[in-house]
Amino acid sequence: MAELKKANSVGEWFDQRLQTTTLTKVLMTEYWIPKRINFLWSFGMVLATLFTVLVITGIFLMMYYKPDTQLAFYSVNYTIMHEVAFGWLIRHMHAVAATLIFLFIYIHMFTGLYYGSFKSGRELIWLSGVLLFVTFCAAGFSGYMLPWGQMSYWAAAVITNLFGEIPIIGPELVIWIRGDYVVGDATLTRFFMLHVFLLPVVIMLILGLHFYALRTPHVNTEEGEDCDFEAEARKYQAGDKKNSKVMPFWPKFMAEDIFVMCVVMTLFFFLVFYGYHFALDPVNAIPADPMVTPQFIYPEWYFLWSYEVLRGFFFSSDLGLIAFGIANVVFFLFPWLDRDPKVLPMHKRPYMKYWFWALMITLVGLTIYGKLPATGPNAWVGLVLSVSFLLLVLVLMPLLSSMERKKREREAA
Ligand code: HEM
Repeated sequence: MAELKKANSVGEWFDQRLQTTTLTKVLMTEYWIPKRINFLWSFGMVLATLFTVLVITGIFLMMYYKPDTQLAFYSVNYTIMHEVAFGWLIRHMHAVAATLIFLFIYIHMFTGLYYGSFKSGRELIWLSGVLLFVTFCAAGFSGYMLPWGQMSYWAAAVITNLFGEIPIIGPELVIWIRGDYVVGDATLTRFFMLHVFLLPVVIMLILGLHFYALRTPHVNTEEGEDCDFEAEARKYQAGDKKNSKVMPFWPKFMAEDIFVMCVVMTLFFFLVFYGYHFALDPVNAIPADPMVTPQFIYPEWYFLWSYEVLRGFFFSSDLGLIAFGIANVVFFLFPWLDRDPKVLPMHKRPYMKYWFWALMITLVGLTIYGKLPATGPNAWVGLVLSVSFLLLVLVLMPLLSSMERKKREREAA
């Protein structure tokens, strides 16, 4: 390497060695984002912020948490909540962030679905997103086990039991997952490893893919129309900032994101101090007892819709399990189940706009009924909702979208 000239600042010293100026341009000041987007596009950065909160608070919690069935409950409910200075605050922050992140993942996911950001070159953004969703579900589930309360124990028992229904390998698989014949110490330590190490690392890797996959197709717009990004960027750089259809990621786009983040963080801290109860189930404040089954066993709110799909087919556990399996993978298939390649927001799609809202109502209905005891009329409503969900995603999505494509082609001819 040729001899370097003397650097006049710390920034220049780093630039000579790491090309920080080029990096800043590629990632920030010359990374172009369309202007026709709304506040819903800020939820990606909101999610990244909440994930950071989870990692930082998790590191502090790990300093006092004991992954042992004899000690776990008291390390959380006594040591962290009462003995450690501000332990309660860190725990509330972790629990509230874990719950809110699912709310925002759903908002972010359905924004992508509404605006058609999952197709036409953006499939990998969507696929990596759904993979993030699945990995966050695993992280949420493994984290829920760690306080070793009644719900931790029984939710782990019920969910690991499900794997036993898989033909041939099922019973062996359950033992392999639990590390024992019953949910116990071996189960807790392996879920602890998953929660504090493997899943966060996997999430970070997938996040890298998610952000990288955004680069080439660019961020979608409210109207779905595409513009010549290169030409619009040149216009912006030439000084015609007002007429250019794009803006740089930094500082323009981030300024809007930071505003939304501030609003969300205000809500976050309000909940941390005054509304944390919704994130901490009272049944889990009772130590795990394998001899006493709680009256109702239900998962956290963000799993309720798929749990209800599982319970919906109350007359056949095999059918319920198949439906549950479909519900967990079907989102991966959306880029191919939507048979119309044109990127348009739902309000501009003649049939799919009804489909979208029908899907939202069904998911909310499933979530509500997932918390209620599945007896009497509730069981029938659960069945109707579960069948509706499967019909919507497996039959109506391909059918209505291809009808739309044909209609558009006929009108254009
Ligand atoms: C913690 C998890 C996630 C983080 C941190 C994250 C982050 C981001 C960010 C920063 C963006 C760009 C700005 C924006 O549109 O908001 C983005 C875009 C996108 N994300 Fe995510 N995301 C996550 C999960 C998901 C999930 C679960 C899905 C869907 C299943 C998803 C699908 C998408 C799509 C389709 C886009 C492109 C939007 C467009 O082009 O308009 N993401 N994500």
